[in-house]
Amino acid sequence: MNYRHAFHAGNFADVFKHAILLGLIDALEAKPAPFCYIDTHAGAGRYDLRGEEARKTGEFVDGVQRLLVAANLPDGLRRYFDLLRAANADDEHGHLHVYPGSPLVASLALRAQDRIVLCEMQQAETIALKTLFAGDKRVGVHRRDGYAALAGFVPPKERRGLVLIDPPFEAQEAEFRAIEGALADACERWPTGIYAVWYPIKLRRQVLPFHRWFAAHGLKKTLAVELMIDADDSPLRLNGCGMAIVNAPWRFDAWLAQLLPDLARLLARSPRASHRIEWLTAE
Ligand SMILES: C[S@@+](CC[C@H](N)C(=O)[O-])C[C@H]1O[C@@H](n2cnc3c(N)ncnc32)[C@H](O)[C@@H]1O
Repeated sequence: MNYRHAFHAGNFADVFKHAILLGLIDALEAKPAPFCYIDTHAGAGRYDLRGEEARKTGEFVDGVQRLLVAANLPDGLRRYFDLLRAANADDEHGHLHVYPGSPLVASLALRAQDRIVLCEMQQAETIALKTLFAGDKRVGVHRRDGYAALAGFVPPKERRGLVLIDPPFEAQEAEFRAIEGALADACERWPTGIYAVWYPIKLRRQVLPFHRWFAAHGLKKTLAVELMIDADDSPLRLNGCGMAIVNAPWRFDAWLAQLLPDLARLLARSPRASHRIEWLTAE
């Protein structure tokens, strides 16, 4: 496995993914009952935008940095921006150079009564996670294959919660099949959990079998939300990305409809940028 998220941290796909992740967490926090957040592909948790890897690709420049320099930040991104500040609270000059990965986003947003389960395959990333969350009793870090481990973590004892599946897609289209297998097992054991799956979009036709899979497997209330920063017609570059959300919270489509136009405007790479929100399956 060659993938290191440090090269991509804070890019447009991370902004999209983490802003939506926060929206899902907020929806769960509408009730005081505890819940569990499970991250099957956790990464290192925290990235230094001044580090060698981030500077080498510079992907964050057309991602989170566009938000940081935006004259007027839309209301829908205010909460995400506040979380970026919280992740950088230790910086005495108020600079924002720490980019929070999904585990840190979740840990900053979750409450004392909630719980976090993190799976990661790579040793260096797992050590980084254990160091980052040492002393945080809410967090469990597991060096395991997230696909294989997921079924053993659901249903969580809280019986409420959210699973984020955010693979590296090194296996290209075969990664979709691995996701489907893990989702099918997990949803059978825990049909009421919220599952959020991030996916890349290069060519639209590569995504269609995945979209059709949700209905074919009888999964409920599945929303597909997509941000294209360019047209979806080139296999050579990441033109956009999406999130498929099973058991999407009540009125989450309306919340996304507020957020997506602002994200598309801020992160567009060409005038062909677009966004879409579509129900793949209903009740
Ligand atoms: C896209 S990154 C995760 C980023 C993270 N979710 C975030 O938003 O900050 C994918 C991660 O999955 C890890 N990984 C790859 N295959 C895995 C597997 N089968 N199980 C668990 N982790 C895996 C990689 O080492 C990499 O750190």
